[in-house]
Amino acid sequence: MTVTNNSPLTRNKTDKSYNRQDWKKGYDSQPNEYDYWVDDIEGEIPNELEGTLFRNGPGLLDIHGTPIRHPFDGDGMISAISFQNGRVHYRNRFVRTEGYVKEREVGKILYRGVFGTSKPGGFFNNAFDLKLKNIANTNVIYWGGKLLALWEAAEPHRLDPATLETLGLDYLDGLLEPGDAFSAHPWVDPSCEMDGGEPCLVNYSIKTGLSSTITIFEFNDDGKLLRRHAHSIPGFCFIHDFVITPHYCIFFQNPVVFNPLPFVLGWRGAGECVQYQPKQPTRIIVIPRIAPYQGVKILETQAGFVFHHANAFELEDKICIDSICYDSLPQVNPDISYKEVDFDALSPGQLWRFTLDLKNETVQRQMLESRCCEFPTLDPDKVGRSYRYLFIGAAHDATGNAPLQAILKIDWQSGDRQLHSFAPKGYISEPVFVPRPNAQAEDDGWVLTLVYDSDRHRSDVVILDGRNLNREPIATVHLKHHIPYGLHGNWVDKVFNG
Ligand code: CO
Repeated sequence: MTVTNNSPLTRNKTDKSYNRQDWKKGYDSQPNEYDYWVDDIEGEIPNELEGTLFRNGPGLLDIHGTPIRHPFDGDGMISAISFQNGRVHYRNRFVRTEGYVKEREVGKILYRGVFGTSKPGGFFNNAFDLKLKNIANTNVIYWGGKLLALWEAAEPHRLDPATLETLGLDYLDGLLEPGDAFSAHPWVDPSCEMDGGEPCLVNYSIKTGLSSTITIFEFNDDGKLLRRHAHSIPGFCFIHDFVITPHYCIFFQNPVVFNPLPFVLGWRGAGECVQYQPKQPTRIIVIPRIAPYQGVKILETQAGFVFHHANAFELEDKICIDSICYDSLPQVNPDISYKEVDFDALSPGQLWRFTLDLKNETVQRQMLESRCCEFPTLDPDKVGRSYRYLFIGAAHDATGNAPLQAILKIDWQSGDRQLHSFAPKGYISEPVFVPRPNAQAEDDGWVLTLVYDSDRHRSDVVILDGRNLNREPIATVHLKHHIPYGLHGNWVDKVFNG
């Protein structure tokens, strides 16, 4: 494996690849909305790279000077970075959620955040106020001609893809009722067996309590509903992501309990009331995608806590699922700012493969990558299929827990790894793999990622060559400002002019 820069060999063993003071500046709010052609570009934007990278994430980490308690509570801000004829345009807009608009009007926090942000005024002002702010900050997808900002606990917001203007809540042609959830982690099945090889979007919603209902939705290219089916699952579900294969949707029901009382009483955010149960098994819920959708299986394993899955595929009677697992769910601690996190005290996310034997209902697990990693991406044509290459955000060093400063490429066939590190000053966001038009190989494309440059307090859009991560970046697009660390986004093969 080659490390492209700042090789660990050149540092003292006790030195860290990062500096927490540098890292936490990436969580400064970005209250401004920009719209400009980028003129500061190193390298050359490939002419074939044409389309728009949409990103979502918290843009405000404080409300008029009052810090929010967790970045997951930050108002959703969408960035649209479009590429055409070797030029790059940047635009960002906050999603005009009801909460964002009202809080901006009055200049203070009006809503409780799921992760512990409370309104000023203490107990009496927070007790029994269960109205959550739909902050639309987790993902952004373009499907069926609609650009949707997603937040898993409520309905999507629809935006104009050209201007990023908020058009309002979207009920998916009446499929959702007001207040219904719609997950922030849809997958596109690139070639759906049931639809003659056409692509379809697969997503789910969860209603949870003592038992839970998982509803699966599948939409065609025009955004029309193809299939919908609901399943009752025992127990509380804290599920952020899922994974698909041609025949199944698979969910990991993390071993947690939820004690809602402190939340109802206003002492704690809902996220602070979720407690990890390390001695309990993780349940793997396997739901058929093929009608009549019967024969749901629930298998058990020891898995740790899973937020994100990388991919899944079928091997005869088996299903392999590649997931990022944490030894435990860090308890959301109301007394310590997330910015003061002690990385060394937390367990790193590591990549595991779970092999489900559906006949014997057994699960085998194997660690694939022990380096701290998160935010996987792959060739969109390989979603739900066996695949050769994975790209994933990673720590600079091979061991320990640390902020993500590098992109790791894993070749499952050869076992080779390539690491492109931006340490010590750079901090990466979720990479997105964009296939080159008419690509012949699975890794023939570009890996796009935002890198927070703590030296300049600005963000760069970096384009790496998917075939060789050890190369210098193909291009580094220097934005005029920083973008706070984001969550998820997607590439769309289309340039929108607004
Ligand atoms: Co996520």
